[in-house]
Amino acid sequence: MTTVHEPAATSADLSVWPASATDSPRGNLTVGGVPLVEIADRFGTPVYILDEAEVRDRRRTYRDAFPDAEVLYAAKAFLCRAMVHWAAEEGLGLDVCSAGELELAVTTGFPADRVVLHGNAKSPRDLDTALRLGVGRIVIDSPSEIARLAAAVGPDGHQKVMVRVVPGISAGGHEKIRTGTDDQKFGLSIADGYAQHAIVRILDQPQLELTGLHCHLGSQITSVKPYLAAVRRLVGLMSRLHEQHGLILPELDLGGGHGIAYRSGEPALDLTALAARSGRNWPKPARQPGSPLPRLIIEPGRVIAGPAGIALYRVLAVKHTGGRVFVAVDGGRATTRARPCTASGTPRA
Ligand SMILES: Cc1ncc(COP(=O)(O)O)c(C=O)c1O
Repeated sequence: MTTVHEPAATSADLSVWPASATDSPRGNLTVGGVPLVEIADRFGTPVYILDEAEVRDRRRTYRDAFPDAEVLYAAKAFLCRAMVHWAAEEGLGLDVCSAGELELAVTTGFPADRVVLHGNAKSPRDLDTALRLGVGRIVIDSPSEIARLAAAVGPDGHQKVMVRVVPGISAGGHEKIRTGTDDQKFGLSIADGYAQHAIVRILDQPQLELTGLHCHLGSQITSVKPYLAAVRRLVGLMSRLHEQHGLILPELDLGGGHGIAYRSGEPALDLTALAARSGRNWPKPARQPGSPLPRLIIEPGRVIAGPAGIALYRVLAVKHTGGRVFVAVDGGRATTRARPCTASGTPRA
């Protein structure tokens, strides 16, 4: 979490806050026109505050930048019933990674067929709930899931699936959130052949319909290049699958990971560049003679929820020690080497 430290009686730097945030010399911060002090008084602290207009704007930006793609909001970034309603109203799908997220979405009225279920360790409950509620697609993340899922679907059933592949690309803001390389727990590697092996096993299960390949390179990616490299790898695999099995996959899911600034001046992913460089006729290299292009799917999460939200705390104590100032708040603690802090606000990730 990034904490914004606001020196007394000066305006705060609101560059990473929701666009509607305003400040006054007296420190009267507002978001969406509502004074934060009023929210703290009414709802108590700590409290998460989301700017609905910003969430909707960000979702629309995606829809407009990628008019031919399917945009799934990655629920793990932040989910509540209002977020589900806004996703439905803005025409987005949902990416969920647990039965709990799925149930929340569906009981809020979200159409289950617009939901994609992820997870590297799906529990029997996750799979049962997904099948019971009629989830659109399930993303296979390990070989053992194939037989389990096929058995749960039953010989007369039908379930659309994708396979999460690991393209062997290192990208992301920190090694712990890089999931495009072979040495981590998500997905099936293209390099060692596990992905291809899993695909063949899925093709042997008539009740499972393989609709596409998925990859998620990691989070806090601020360059377009890794995405373009990932498309090339996935498209290469699609072409080989076509040659070897006559398989034409209609979907290519590039996951999320679009980086945002946590502090003023930090880089963010240039969405327009991503959309422009991928082009509206995305992804060209996948063109197989006489076959339609795969449809692009993207799964932005943090980039929608993060800049649209703040966490509001009350300061409980301020302590100067050595070169540091410790600010204890009622939802955690912030440390700074800078001048004393009179307020703290934390953009949510
Ligand atoms: C499969 C998948 N899709 C999408 C996302 C969303 O990533 P971000 O919030 O960085 O956009 C994640 C995050 O971990 C993920 O695992």
